[in-house]
Amino acid sequence: MPADLRARLGQVELPNPVLAAAGCAGAGRELAQFIDVARAGAIISKSIMTEPRTGNPAPRLTETPSGLLNSVGLQGPGIDAFLQRDLPWLLSHGARVVVSIAGQTVREYGALAARLSGAAGVCGVEINLSCPNAEDAGRLFALDPATAGTVVAAVRGSLRYDMPVFAKLSPDVTDIVAVAGACVGAGADGLSLINVMIGMAIDPATMRPVLAGAYGGLSGPAVRPVAVRCVWQVREAFPDVPIIGTGGIRTGRDALELLLAGASMIAVGTAIVTDPSACSRVARELEEELTAVGADRVADVIGQAHAPRGALRARAVGR
Ligand SMILES: Cc1cc2nc3c(=O)[nH]c(=O)nc-3n(C[C@H](O)[C@H](O)[C@H](O)COP(=O)(O)O)c2cc1C
Repeated sequence: MPADLRARLGQVELPNPVLAAAGCAGAGRELAQFIDVARAGAIISKSIMTEPRTGNPAPRLTETPSGLLNSVGLQGPGIDAFLQRDLPWLLSHGARVVVSIAGQTVREYGALAARLSGAAGVCGVEINLSCPNAEDAGRLFALDPATAGTVVAAVRGSLRYDMPVFAKLSPDVTDIVAVAGACVGAGADGLSLINVMIGMAIDPATMRPVLAGAYGGLSGPAVRPVAVRCVWQVREAFPDVPIIGTGGIRTGRDALELLLAGASMIAVGTAIVTDPSACSRVARELEEELTAVGADRVADVIGQAHAPRGALRARAVGR
């Protein structure tokens, strides 16, 4: 019997727990030539802002050992075009959609949430807190527990119905549990861990930063141990809060690692860049991994790395 991959996002049942991470599948259309978007657990949209934006100047991407540095910035069509064009397309193709939102002020996040309240068919909202706060000298919202909580409260307060809200946190903090706690306290139903880590590359030939914006977000396998650590710490502190684990997942085995750390769903980002079918492949491989460790369903492994050595773990160790 293959393992049961079904997962839950609020009231919605997902066919599997493998989501496309924000920004790595655009608005989903880009993936459609490679995969059936209805077969991904869900598609998390590129972070949407109130107005159309062109993003940062090029060059915006560079490879690093086992990773990618990107400074794409929040490029996108804005909420109106997303709601008129991209969301209906995704829904008409049977995708489950989580809308990622990004703002430059607390008010902007609230306004985006209010707009989403009128959109039928959205499974959840992911708040991208790794955005510069225009009212605090460009400091990222995610860096301060109180500020992150204020954003979550604004989103929660602006949603007219009970849509699941996930706060997406940055690993670039001293105490991720404190930020997670502030977000949960302010009304987040779940957490997404992790967004990119801020990094930089310098080209010795030009003696200048490689990226036009100097800094970029590090993603890919290089950050997976950081994601595992963050998910582990947050699960330890808030065992009942659902977590979407993200960071360097490339295989079913990587996905299993994040689930064991405490994620109840996982999202694949950078791996999609080189393998557009990564979500379906990872889901297939995860099914095999679950069978190999003697798990009948995803729930059997969530957070198991925290549990005292049990029957399931004993079987896994002996495989
Ligand atoms: C090119 C690119 C664009 C991204 N855009 C977004 C975005 O719009 N919103 C967001 O919350 N995260 C964004 N991310 C972060 C990813 O969703 C993910 O959290 C991060 O890359 C770690 O996962 P990975 O190692 O599987 O890529 C982006 C990442 C990349 C590589």
